[in-house]
Amino acid sequence: MTTEPITERLDDPASARESGRQKIDWARQHMPICAALREEFVETQPLAGQRLGMAMHVEATTAVLTETLAAAGAEVAITGCNPLSTHDDVSAALDAQEGITSYAERDVDDEGYYDAIEAVIAHEPTITVDDGMDMVAAIHDDHPELIDSILGGCEETTTGVHRLRAMDDDDALDYPVFAVNDTPMKRLFDNVHGTGESSLAAIAMTTNLSWAGKTVVVAGYGFCGRGVAKKAAGQNANVVVCEVDPRRALEAHMEGYEVLPMAEAAAEGDVFITTTGNRDVLTEEHFERMKDGALLANAGHFDVEIDLDALGELAESTREARPGVREYELSGGKRLNVLAEGRLVNLAAPIALGHPVEVMDQSFGVQAVCVREFTEEEYEPGVHEVPDALDREVAEIKLDAEGLAIDELTETQTEYMGSWDHGT
Ligand code: NAI
Repeated sequence: MTTEPITERLDDPASARESGRQKIDWARQHMPICAALREEFVETQPLAGQRLGMAMHVEATTAVLTETLAAAGAEVAITGCNPLSTHDDVSAALDAQEGITSYAERDVDDEGYYDAIEAVIAHEPTITVDDGMDMVAAIHDDHPELIDSILGGCEETTTGVHRLRAMDDDDALDYPVFAVNDTPMKRLFDNVHGTGESSLAAIAMTTNLSWAGKTVVVAGYGFCGRGVAKKAAGQNANVVVCEVDPRRALEAHMEGYEVLPMAEAAAEGDVFITTTGNRDVLTEEHFERMKDGALLANAGHFDVEIDLDALGELAESTREARPGVREYELSGGKRLNVLAEGRLVNLAAPIALGHPVEVMDQSFGVQAVCVREFTEEEYEPGVHEVPDALDREVAEIKLDAEGLAIDELTETQTEYMGSWDHGT
C-alpha cells in the first residue's frame, strides 16, 4: 500500500490549501447545525480518544463535518467514496488540520481508490463514517481483527444502507451501523431537495442547455427521483417517470407525470436521469431507441445504472464533446451523450458542487450526533435505525437557527394521542 496523504501528492499544496479553505469557510457560514454541535463538542470532547475512519465525498460540506468531529476530540482519517467526487483543494485544506489526515484525491484509478481506503483503515478506526459502505466492506473482508475495537459506523446513503441490510440478513455484519440515510432529517431533504437541485444544476452547467420544453425521463421515483422530477417540472420540462414499484408509479401518475416503461420512454426523452440505486436501467435496447443528441446522466450512487459497456460496444466512435460529456456515435450517425462517465452527476461532473450546503448541514448534523451516540450507548452488531430523539435534536437546532418556533402538545393532547379509549 503506497498511498500518502494528499499533501504529499500535490504540486502546489499551499495554494490548494488556500482555495480549499475558502470553500470550507463559505460552507461553514451556512451550516448552523454543525456550528451548534461543534460548540457543544469543543466543550464536552465526546470523541476524545476515538479514531474516526471516513469514506465520503470530500467536498466543502463534508470538510465541515470532518472538522466538527475533529473538534470533538477525534483523530480523523478520511478518503473519498467515489473516484470523481473529491475536491483536491478541500482535501488538502483538511489534511493541513491538526488531528486530520486526508487521503482523498480526485480521478484516481480503482487501485488508488482502494489503496486510500486501506490507508484510512491503517489508522485503526474505532468509529467509521461511510457513504456507500466501501469502508465497512473492506474492514470485514480484509481487517476483521479490527472489528472488536469498533464502537460502530454511520452510513450516509440509500445504496449503502441496502448493502448493509443485505449483509445483516446474511449475519455477516459484525458491528453496529446507523442507517443515517433513513432519518427524516436526511432523506426528506438531502435525497429529495439535494439530489433534485444539484443534479439539475450539474447537468445544466455541464451542458449549458436549457430544461424548458425538454422531455426529461426520470428512472426511479423514490426519494431522489421525486426531487429530480419535481425540480425538472419546475424548470418547465415535461417529465416522464419509469418505475418498477406499482405504488411509486401511481404516486408519480397522481403528481401529474407521464408514467411509461423505459422501452417506450427511451424514444421520447431528451434527457435521462437514473435514480434507482439499481443496475442496467438504461441498456442496449434503450440506446437503440433514443433520439440523436440525448443526454444520459446518473444520480444514483454507483456507475452501473447506465450500461456503458453495452454503449461502448454499440458505438462506432466516442469523443469528449465537452468537459464531463462523452459523446458516443452509433452507426447511422446518432449521438448519445453520457455525463460524468455515468457516475453520480451532481458530484462527479467536472464543475459539480454536490448538494446545497444547507441540505448537507442537516445530513451531517445527523451524522455528528450518531457518531456521538456510539460513545454514549452500546449497540449490538447490525443495522440500527437512528433513535428518533437524535433526529429531533437536529431538527430543533435547525428550527432555532432559522428563527422558527412551533407549538407544543398540551398534557391533555399528549394523553389523548396516547389513549385508545376515547371513541365517538
Ligand atoms: P429509493 O429506494 O427511495 O428509490 C429508488 C426507486 O427506484 C424505487 O422507487 C425503486 O422502485 C426504483 N427502481 C429500482 N429499480 C428500478 C428500475 N430498474 N427501473 C425503474 N425504477 C427502479 O432510493 P433513493 O433514496 O431515491 O436513492 C436512489 C439512489 O440514489 C441510491 O443509489 C442512493 O444511494 C443514491 N443517492 C444519490 C444521491 C446523490 O447525491 N446523487 C443522494 C442520495 C441518494
